[in-house]
Amino acid sequence: MKLKFDAIVVGSGIAGLSLALKIAAAGRSVVILTKKNRADSNTNYAQGGIACVTSSADDFDSHVADTLRAGDGLCREDVVRTIVSEGPERIRELIDLGLQFSQNATGAYDLGREGGHTHRRILHVKDMTGKAIEEALLRAIARSPHVELREHVFAIDLVTARKVGAAGPDRVLGLYALDAVSGQVDTYIAPVVALATGGAGQVYAYTTNPDIATGDGIAMAYRAGVEVENMEFIQFHPTTLYSHDAKRFLISEAVRGEGAILRDLQGRAFMKDYHELADLAPRDTVARAIDAEMKKSGAPHVWLDVTHKSREELQERFPVIFQRCLELGIDISRDMIPVVPAAHYTCGGGVTDLDAATTLPGLYACGEVASTGLHGANRLASNSLLEAVVMAHRGALAIRRYLDEKAQPPGDIPDWVSGDVHDSDEQVVIAHNWDELRRTMWDYVGIVRTTKRLERARTRIANLAREIHDYYWNFRVEPRLLELRNLIQVAELIVDCAMQRTESRGLHYTLDYPEKLDVARNTRLRRRNIPAREPTL
Ligand code: FAD
Ligand code: SIN
Repeated sequence: MKLKFDAIVVGSGIAGLSLALKIAAAGRSVVILTKKNRADSNTNYAQGGIACVTSSADDFDSHVADTLRAGDGLCREDVVRTIVSEGPERIRELIDLGLQFSQNATGAYDLGREGGHTHRRILHVKDMTGKAIEEALLRAIARSPHVELREHVFAIDLVTARKVGAAGPDRVLGLYALDAVSGQVDTYIAPVVALATGGAGQVYAYTTNPDIATGDGIAMAYRAGVEVENMEFIQFHPTTLYSHDAKRFLISEAVRGEGAILRDLQGRAFMKDYHELADLAPRDTVARAIDAEMKKSGAPHVWLDVTHKSREELQERFPVIFQRCLELGIDISRDMIPVVPAAHYTCGGGVTDLDAATTLPGLYACGEVASTGLHGANRLASNSLLEAVVMAHRGALAIRRYLDEKAQPPGDIPDWVSGDVHDSDEQVVIAHNWDELRRTMWDYVGIVRTTKRLERARTRIANLAREIHDYYWNFRVEPRLLELRNLIQVAELIVDCAMQRTESRGLHYTLDYPEKLDVARNTRLRRRNIPAREPTL
């Protein structure tokens, strides 16, 4: 089937929904493709909230300075200033859509604090901010006549002028997407594609991210020749609930913002040994400190102690966290919480400018998939929802201008040619390779790295890439195979960027280069050998 729109948005988290709403507001036809149910996204799990200057005790300069400090020399200052200063207007729009941020007894916003912030500035809806945002945006989408939202549609790859051998400079023409229900691959045609596919936490064995976070957009963009940067900066969240299975439930940094203290197994508060801000130090420092404490003692976790707060206060402020811990027999008003770090956020991604435009004409990227320069080497807590909502607004305006002034009709795109073989072996090999990849990344490309470990990872990933390449071209595509292909691509990008960086900076720490270089540089990658016509076409 061939379908035509003015714009294709891939992803239905905060970035995709916000973009689609604002493109459609100009009367343009927009389709949102989302690979699972509409609310399945990292956005839906966000706890702490949105960092934004709304209090008279705070100011933009302070938020900018905190972001730059956390980013460790690699933030683009103009980008930081733009996103921080445009935040309040976008927050007002979310409120207009019906979002009700938590307030205190006086009716003022109950502003939370998180690591690296020198002021209370996190707007939140208790500890379920993301769910409230997702619901408000989905309600708005349902009211929008020009947006069609298609669930269980998996975007596989972009189609570009170069790939189909069309004349003229390269540009995006659309994409192929798998209907996960029918198994059919459809052709979506549009002069604009916006990737809002989120991050890649699933590339690690232990992550806070739900299973949608497989880096699909980053891999697709890279395969299409778009510049990708700073992929070595994977943020490990310091405090996720320790459990015997691989699932890692987040214990929000806002809990430390309310005074919780990290302790070793003997009960000693250790963060003051590592940073002057102690438990509210930036995330890279806290995650490394916990990792060091666990290695020193051999303990499988450290403790997070919030027992100074009453049961009533905790149930009111953190109802989801309170309930989840209680289900596991932990009453957080009396018991300390066992916590470990886990992969949480992809700071790098497809390079975009302040219009959310990538280096490929017609292709935009917004949210966690993109690298705008806001986060540098380490994202400041709660800056990602802010970035997504500000960049979606800017991106939508730029897309509207592009459609009005520059876009050429995409023309026709050849149908997808499917490999037709099915094999009983297929599922077990895919499942096995998923585990091997995620374990490899956790063991060799984690919080503390060495060149030898990175080389070991590179060899193993190359073997997996060969095997999956063969599957991809010969077998019928299905979501788990496509996700694994993307995860392998993203793992390669992370390792390649990490190998390029001969220093320790922000989230990248290597024992072989423990010092920071005087000059901060981005690590950039771009695929050079794109075949004129991909074999599927
Ligand atoms: P997502 O919300 O992840 O949405 C991606 C969408 O793309 C999904 O709909 C997915 O199904 C779809 N998709 C992906 N690939 C494909 C494909 N191939 N085809 C079709 N669809 C596809 N940040 C903060 O600022 N504050 C917080 O308090 C906070 N808390 C967090 C808590 C948790 C547990 C997690 C995991 C993250 C948290 N973050 C927080 C980070 C923040 O939630 C994310 O960075 C942000 O929500 C990303 O939004 P997004 O729209 O870019 O992507
Ligand atoms: C948290 O609530 O700790 C997550 C905040 C974030 O990732 O920005």
